Amino acid sequence: MTTDRADTDSLPSPPGPTGLPLLGTTVSLVRDPFGFLEEVGSYGDVVQYRTVLGDFTALLHPDHVERVLLRQPDRFQQVGITDFDVGIDPEGLVDVRGEQWHRQRTVMQPAFTMERIRSYADATVEETADTIAEWTDGETITLEEAFSELTLRILTRSLFDLEVESDDADLIARTARVLNEQLAVGNPSVFLPSWLPTPSNRRFERTYGEFVDRVDAMIANRRASDDAGDDLLSILLQAQTDEGATLTERELRDNMLTFLFAGHETTSLGLTYALFLLARHEEELERLRAEHREVIGDDDPAFEHVPRLIRTERVIDEALRLYPPVPVLFREPTETVAFDGFRVAPDSTVTLPQFTIHRDERFWDDPLAFDPDRWRGERSEGRPEYAYFPFGGGPRHCIGMRFARLELHLVLAVVCRRFDFEAVGDPDLEFDPGVTLRPSEPLRVRIRAR
Ligand code: HEM
Repeated sequence: MTTDRADTDSLPSPPGPTGLPLLGTTVSLVRDPFGFLEEVGSYGDVVQYRTVLGDFTALLHPDHVERVLLRQPDRFQQVGITDFDVGIDPEGLVDVRGEQWHRQRTVMQPAFTMERIRSYADATVEETADTIAEWTDGETITLEEAFSELTLRILTRSLFDLEVESDDADLIARTARVLNEQLAVGNPSVFLPSWLPTPSNRRFERTYGEFVDRVDAMIANRRASDDAGDDLLSILLQAQTDEGATLTERELRDNMLTFLFAGHETTSLGLTYALFLLARHEEELERLRAEHREVIGDDDPAFEHVPRLIRTERVIDEALRLYPPVPVLFREPTETVAFDGFRVAPDSTVTLPQFTIHRDERFWDDPLAFDPDRWRGERSEGRPEYAYFPFGGGPRHCIGMRFARLELHLVLAVVCRRFDFEAVGDPDLEFDPGVTLRPSEPLRVRIRAR
């Protein structure tokens, strides 16, 4: 419920952990960010905490999430990389606001219609087949590494019609790593200004600079070629010459960077956790295969099969529930607002933690269990829509959601048909702090050809 300004100012501040003088809760947050999120939940649905980076208010009820993302998005502004003082100020779709966001989203939407997504399916299946052709019986693979390379290939081929050289793949992976490091609350240098020449700031600057040069070269190559293409890059280049919505040179380059980051590691982590879970739940893997046999038979999986892969869909939903690749969203209120009778001021960044809400016992029975059947219609009844939001929601929901879901279905279908997976070791699943939910120990499986 919205209250007017005079009323909201007189409301109490939300409860929350106080932490140490000056440092606030920085120490607990740095030590164990996801343990900290759990602790925050014990204070209620609106919880305030302070760190040296500023004040935060965690909103832990799906109705609050729905209000922020869907019902009042104009009152809660996007928080981008720029707000974290990483030393870069990108003008890509994830970071921009207001009219600039609206114009960019309009320009890019055509690359993500169902018709267009359909044309990415074959590249996905081919790249997956090529990747697993290199896997050998009995080999142990690290899931994040294997899928990071694969999703990068799929992304660059479908959106940018580029074959990734292995040097490029390595550079993109390194850039993703240093960027995540710069944004990780567990990294003490996050709390220092980006202009300080700390080793991690220097490493970031060097790697990022190399990456920008490479992307500039890719754009120049495309401009120089006669081939117009019909991928995202062509749509972006075309938009520069249209009278209506146009992109500046800077926006064009920053969006290539944005899409490479936003679409690559997220999807790779989705696949990593899905396979991590399937390797530990053989009966689920068998049910998945039975569905693949029935729907796909001996053909190659294709776009047309996907709507009938119901069991696969539930496994994907369940993996993204337990391990949302984007674990927390951030927003800034444009004015003082009220939640559950508490005041949230504009200088308090609102956090919406999927990681916590996806595991809340009020909305999920036995929340830590991997149970794809919980997605059956009758068991989902009455669950608030925003108890689950791995792709965000409202106007700024993930533009690549359909593409990512398509990819997850197809890659699982190709991979599960050809290999068995045996879990190696029993990692105590913990996560590196960062904008994405990366496992802190490598997740490995031994593969057996079928
Ligand atoms: C499993 C895979 C993925 C997950 C879990 C995911 C998650 C998300 C989430 C949670 C947001 C909203 C962020 C916010 O509201 O602050 C988002 C936005 C975005 N995603 Fe994804 N994403 C995935 C795959 C992709 C792919 C494949 C692409 C590109 C092809 C992509 C491109 C984007 C872009 C550009 C935005 C910004 C949209 C906007 O602000 O208008 N994502 N994603």
